Formats: sequence, structure tokens, C-alpha cells
Amino acid sequence: MSKHIIPITLFAMAVAGQAYADKDEYRESHGASMPVKNELYQKECGDCHIAYPAELLPARSWEHLMNKLDKHFGENAELSEDNRQALSRYLTENAGDRSRGSPGKLLKSLDRSQTPERITELPYFKKEHREIPARFYEQNPKMKSLSNCEVCHTRAAQGSFAEGEINIPGIGRWED
Ligand code: HEC
Ligand code: HEC
Repeated sequence: MSKHIIPITLFAMAVAGQAYADKDEYRESHGASMPVKNELYQKECGDCHIAYPAELLPARSWEHLMNKLDKHFGENAELSEDNRQALSRYLTENAGDRSRGSPGKLLKSLDRSQTPERITELPYFKKEHREIPARFYEQNPKMKSLSNCEVCHTRAAQGSFAEGEINIPGIGRWED
């Protein structure tokens, strides 16, 4: 796989100059590791994309998403009523603003009046990913959007987003 590893030194250097205080705080509060342990969730919500860790959105976002599964980003992701209720409960109870009593770093800069439908819309997410030129994912057929976390975060399916595990196709390993 080494042909994918083409470090772009200038790009990496530009990124290394950024302030990382936020990221360190994030790691402390989350350890960048949020393994999904719910099998029903993996099965029902992990087919079209990874089963996004519940911690990545606030409870109100999960409620909103789970109440309109028939219109899910252009797809029909409807579930039986029993499963829908079970998974709504699981997601809201483990949501980023519920699981540890206080909002995690990821949700901290999110306005309380907002109910994002996407993780990729969160201000913190945008900030963490703003150094990645859009051309690296928009024109990559394997990726298309940043919603496919696992394309770069090689252990995203295990709920892990640690920096040392990032490998961007066409760029290579991510090093500060
Ligand atoms: C039939 C396929 C399908 C199923 C099943 C499905 N999804 Fe999705 N989901 C999508 C598509 C398509 C997108 C948009 C991806 C994109 O924009 O690249 C999406 C996006 C999302 C996003 C936003 C990701 C982002 O951009 O930040 C969340 C959150 C989400 N889904 C949660 C769920 C949950 C919870 C379930 C289970 C109840 C589920 N999905 C089941 C197809 C599906
Ligand atoms: C195009 C590749 C790419 C995709 C796709 C991507 N990321 Fe990232 N992500 C990165 C890079 C690169 C960084 C590191 C930015 C930095 O700090 O220099 C990062 C950082 C992060 C961090 C902070 C990690 C830490 O240790 O501070 C989290 C959390 C994260 N991403 C979650 C996600 C989630 C969730 C998704 C999918 C919804 C996603 N990412 C999609 C490349 C990607």
C-alpha cells in the first residue's frame, strides 16, 4: 500500500503551524475513542456508512434524525417501530451532551438553538477538517464527502479517531 503514502511536506508543515490546544482538550475528554458496542445499532445503522458513535451528536439531533428515517439524506432508512424506539433511546442516552453529563469538546462550540443533522456540520468538525483541501475528497470516488469517516480514519468503524490512525488516500499518513 506504500504507493498511497505520498507525504506532501509543505501541506503538512502548514498544518503543523496551527494551534492545537482544542484538540488536546478534546483528546482528554474523549480520548478520540468512542467504540460502538450496541449490536442492533451496528446492524441497522452501520450498512450504508459506519455506525456513527452516538457521542458525535447531541441528543436533540438524534431525536430529529430518528423521527424522519423515511427521508434520510435521500434514502429510506426506516426501521420497525420497536427497533426505532430502542435505537432512539440508545442514541439519545449516549449522545455527546448526555453521556458524560457535560458536552464534549465536539459539541462545545455548537449553539444550543441549533439541531445539526450532520456531524460534518458541527463547528468543531469543520475546524478540525478545514486544512483538508476539498479536492482530496470531492474528486475521490471512494470518498465524495467527509461523511465517509473510515476512508481517512482507518479505525473509524471501531469508534477511534486518533490522529496517528489517519491515512488520507492520495496524501498519506497525517503527521503534524
Ligand atoms: C439506506 C442507507 C442508509 C441507512 C440504512 C442509514 N443511513 Fe445514515 N446516511 C445515509 C446517507 C446516504 C447519508 C448521507 C451521506 C453523505 O452525505 O455522504 C447518511 C448520513 C447520516 C448521518 C450524517 C453524517 C454526516 O454527514 O455527518 C447520520 C448522523 C446518519 N446517517 C445516521 C444514521 C442512523 C442513526 C441510521 C440508522 C437508524 C442510519 N443513518 C442508517 C444512508 C443511510
Ligand atoms: C478526508 C479525510 C478525512 C475524513 C473523510 C474525515 N476526517 Fe476526521 N480528520 C482528518 C484529519 C486529517 C484530521 C486531523 C486534523 C488535524 O488535527 O491536523 C482529522 C481529525 C478528526 C478528529 C480529531 C481527532 C483528534 O485526535 O483530535 C475527529 C474527532 C474526527 N476527525 C472525526 C471524524 C469523523 C466523525 C468523520 C466522519 C463523519 C471524519 N473525521 C472524516 C481527516 C478526515
